[in-house]
Amino acid sequence: MNLARKTMNAPALAAVYEHAWRPALFYLASGRTTGSDRRDAVRALRIEGTGQRVLDLACGPGNFTHYLSEHLTGDGYVTGLDYSEPMLAKAAADNAGQRVGYVRGDARTLPFADGTFDAVCCFGALYLIPDPIAATREMIRVLAPGGRIAITTSFREDNLFGTATTVAASLSGLRLFDRDTFPDLFAAAGLTEIDQRVHRFMQYVDASKPA
Ligand SMILES: C[S@@+](CC[C@H](N)C(=O)[O-])C[C@H]1O[C@@H](n2cnc3c(N)ncnc32)[C@H](O)[C@@H]1O
Repeated sequence: MNLARKTMNAPALAAVYEHAWRPALFYLASGRTTGSDRRDAVRALRIEGTGQRVLDLACGPGNFTHYLSEHLTGDGYVTGLDYSEPMLAKAAADNAGQRVGYVRGDARTLPFADGTFDAVCCFGALYLIPDPIAATREMIRVLAPGGRIAITTSFREDNLFGTATTVAASLSGLRLFDRDTFPDLFAAAGLTEIDQRVHRFMQYVDASKPA
């Protein structure tokens, strides 16, 4: 297990992740606040206060899972899935709710049938997952026709600086992705309305699965 994955499995990180680690590191990496990321997530996933079924993949301590659930009504429900037991324990303690549930699993082989969810997201995790392309394909598989998908992950420029940062990041087990990987993958899978925004070292990509 590499350094990045070991860190994600550490109880000490789970304890400080939501209120200290994420706000600080994501602000440095993207210039954006957690509040902006949360509001954009609701917009990108088109959470509309109806009975949507949502999957928050690699949910960590449930810091987006619970927020998304607050925008649902009726039988709307958000499932948070993560691999780390300490993160899930923290999620259950801090981010439980009427429309939230947590599942332990591996993003690369999701325990859900095709088309289970109306919206699927994965924020701040694809650069940690050993096979991020398999995980993204799984997200698309479990998304229902007409549904929305949104990811936030790392970004590298296509220049010498990008190459240098890619090498530096890989030493700790983090991957940096170029501008094309996810939009191309989404397009090849038949997704439409593909939108990509880059903020410093982070990229935000969302799309729709045709109805
Ligand atoms: C940085 S946290 C992201 C938490 C939250 N989504 C956010 O944006 O703040 C990354 C999470 O990815 C999870 N993770 C890494 N590899 C995974 C895998 N193969 N399957 C499921 N979760 C995984 C880690 O356990 C960790 O909780």
